[in-house]
Amino acid sequence: MKNTVTTLQQMKRDGQKISMLTCYDYTTACLMEEAGINAILIGDSLGMTMMGYSDTLPVTVDDIIHHCASVSRALKNTFLVADMPFMSYQASVVDAVKNAGRLIKEGHAQAVKLEGGASVCEQIKAIVKADIPVVAHIGLTPQSINAFGGFKVQGKNYDRALQLLRDAKAVEEAGAFMVTLECVPEKLATLISNELSIPTIGIGAGNGCDGQVLVYQDMLGMFTGFKPKFVKRFANIGEDMKNAFKAYDAEVKSMAFPAEEHNFAIDEKIIADIEREELSVDADESLCS
Ligand code: KIV
Repeated sequence: MKNTVTTLQQMKRDGQKISMLTCYDYTTACLMEEAGINAILIGDSLGMTMMGYSDTLPVTVDDIIHHCASVSRALKNTFLVADMPFMSYQASVVDAVKNAGRLIKEGHAQAVKLEGGASVCEQIKAIVKADIPVVAHIGLTPQSINAFGGFKVQGKNYDRALQLLRDAKAVEEAGAFMVTLECVPEKLATLISNELSIPTIGIGAGNGCDGQVLVYQDMLGMFTGFKPKFVKRFANIGEDMKNAFKAYDAEVKSMAFPAEEHNFAIDEKIIADIEREELSVDADESLCS
C-alpha cells in the first residue's frame, strides 16, 4: 500500500500505529521500503550521523536535498519527509516557502518537517498554502539547543506542559498534517495525541503517540558511545560491521582474501605470450611516447 498524507491520517483514525525511521542513503532506503516502514524522515540529524557535526545547526538545505534525492530513488510506497534545517525557515515566511519548495522539487520529498509551535505557525500556513504538506515538531527541538541549554526532556512542569499542548493545537490549526513529539513525558504525549485529530509521531514520548520515529543508526546499534534512554537497539549492526572490517583487514594482510573463487580467469597462453614479448623489449625503450 502506498503511504500518503491521507493514509497516514487514516491510520490514526483506525488506531493503527505509524512506523517512521530516519534515513539518509539509497541502500538503506531500499531495505526500509522492503521492510514496509510507513514513512522515512531525512532528518537534519544527518549533520551528526552522516557528517560528524556535534549538533544539527550547520546542516544546509543543499545537504538535505542531496540525501533526500538519493533516498527518493529507492522509494515506491514509503512516504518521504524532509527536514527543514536551521535558518531555512526561521527568518521569514518567504524563506520558508522557497526552501520547502526546493525540498519538494529538488529533493523529491512529499512533505517537509519544521521545528517549533505557535512561533512558526505563519510559516506552516504559508507552506501549506503552497500545497506542501507539513509535519510539525515540538517538545525537544534540537535546532534550539542553545536556547534550551542542552538536550532535555520538555514539558515537565504545569506551565511547560500546557504550553506544549497549546503548541500542538496551534500547529494543527495552522495546517500541519502530522506532528513529532520529541522527549515529552509519556502521559503528556498521550494527552496531546488524544486531543489532536492529526497523528503524533513520538521519539522519547511513549506508546500513546500515533506512531514512532527513531534515528536508524541508534536503533541498529551502530553507535556504541552512548544510548539515549528512549532508544531501543533492535540489532547490533555496529559490532557486526566492526567485526567484518577487522576480518577483512586480517584476510587482506594474510592473503586469505581474495581467494580462488573471487578471481577472474584468463587463457594461460596469453599470459605466457605477453611475458615472452615483454622480455624481448629493450630495457631502455621508453613506453611513454
Ligand atoms: O532530525 C531528526 O532525525 C529528527 C528526529 C529525531 C525526529 O528530527
